[in-house]
Amino acid sequence: MSSSSNSSNVTLEKIVSLCKRRGFVFQSAEIYSGLNGVYDFGPLGAQLKQNIKNIWTKDMRTGQEDVIFMDGAILGAQAVWQASGHAENFSDPLVDCQNCNKRFRANDINLEKPCPSCGIKKWTDVRQFKLMFETNLGAVSDSTNIAYLRPETAQTIFINFKNILTSSRVKIPFGIAQIGKAFRNEITPKQFLFRMREFEQMELEFFCKEENATNFFETWINKRMNFYKEIGLDMSKIRTRDHESDELAHYSNSCTDIEYNFPFGWKELEGIAYRTNFDLTQHTKFSGKDLAVYDDEKKESYIPHVIECSVGVDRLFLTILFDAYTEDSIDGETRTSLRLHPKIAPITAAILPLSKKLSENAIKIYHDLKQKDVRVQFDESGSIGKRYRRQDEIGTPACFTFDFDSVDDKQVTVRDRDTLKQERISIDQIENYIKNILNK
Ligand code: GAP
Repeated sequence: MSSSSNSSNVTLEKIVSLCKRRGFVFQSAEIYSGLNGVYDFGPLGAQLKQNIKNIWTKDMRTGQEDVIFMDGAILGAQAVWQASGHAENFSDPLVDCQNCNKRFRANDINLEKPCPSCGIKKWTDVRQFKLMFETNLGAVSDSTNIAYLRPETAQTIFINFKNILTSSRVKIPFGIAQIGKAFRNEITPKQFLFRMREFEQMELEFFCKEENATNFFETWINKRMNFYKEIGLDMSKIRTRDHESDELAHYSNSCTDIEYNFPFGWKELEGIAYRTNFDLTQHTKFSGKDLAVYDDEKKESYIPHVIECSVGVDRLFLTILFDAYTEDSIDGETRTSLRLHPKIAPITAAILPLSKKLSENAIKIYHDLKQKDVRVQFDESGSIGKRYRRQDEIGTPACFTFDFDSVDDKQVTVRDRDTLKQERISIDQIENYIKNILNK
């Protein structure tokens, strides 16, 4: 039977290939030779992404702190990004090889050494490359109608802070959370979903009084670490790392990254930043609108301080795949499976008739579960072993096989993806079985 599982030999290539083969992620515009740094999500990928967003949303909504949600625009007025400092500061150092014309982020290479692409050492000077995508609104292109695709969702939260405060029944401390697209013209998009040009962020801006900010900073680091534990990530591959002062973004007073040990090294998964009251102060200055809050106890106005938790949906998607990818050996054959938490798995259950002759009966179970909103697949093609492999590879936690006895005894065999344990349960217990694994 199965030998011990082994997820340590996962590589980026294996994940990219599985994602394409099983319809999780495709290079965007692939039939036109692809758009670099941009990806489309297929049926399973879109569902996995949705599950990630649902879990994050639920975690924010049901936690002890008050968190409300918004959905801001992607196009941002020039003034917003001038006030936030992005128009001036949001850039990466860029260097070109004068021999082969390849471009690099200066941070990624050692300029004392030759070009990793052509082996010649002939660098240009390092210069700053603006990361925001710029466009013009309307028919005329001039400097008065410039807009930017937002490089972070956070600013739409800050510019709506007063609108939300006055229209919702919330009091400091509270958070505003948002999930949405962000765009960055990355010099070298790489490592698949790790560094993309179009991606999605899940961000929380938590507003509090200055004297409570350090405490909330610690609270949120702990909460976010706990979230990763809850969704089943291997915590030996997760760590926190405080930023050195020369790494801090222009708006940040202190920042702690939650890092994951990817096959290409320890890298940022989520950033937790104490943004002080920088953003609200800047928007107050630039817009001329008062964004201060009145403190009833102290009888004075103040601009709230902010703790931010920011994670990329796509980067977390990639992390989850790396973490779940497992190869083990069954009867001398290598089996690939994704040990996804059942809440995250795109498909929770598969209904497999042992023979096509049994399809008519088995499909009733499938339709019944579908109606009950279970993420379920029906598969009647190929040997049962092949069908199990297909479900293992997409991370389906439970396969229910309908065999010739099922017609009479009204039972099916359920097989567990990870332990391979099989047990016979009554058909009317399938729904309960699924509920139980989802609540594990
Ligand atoms: N509002 C703060 C902010 O945007 P960031 O560290 O630049 O901070 C936050 O980004 C998170 O967004 C990162 O931790 C990462 O998960 C994700 N992210 C940033 N750039 C990305 C990119 N080019 N591709 C995919 N995800 C990205």
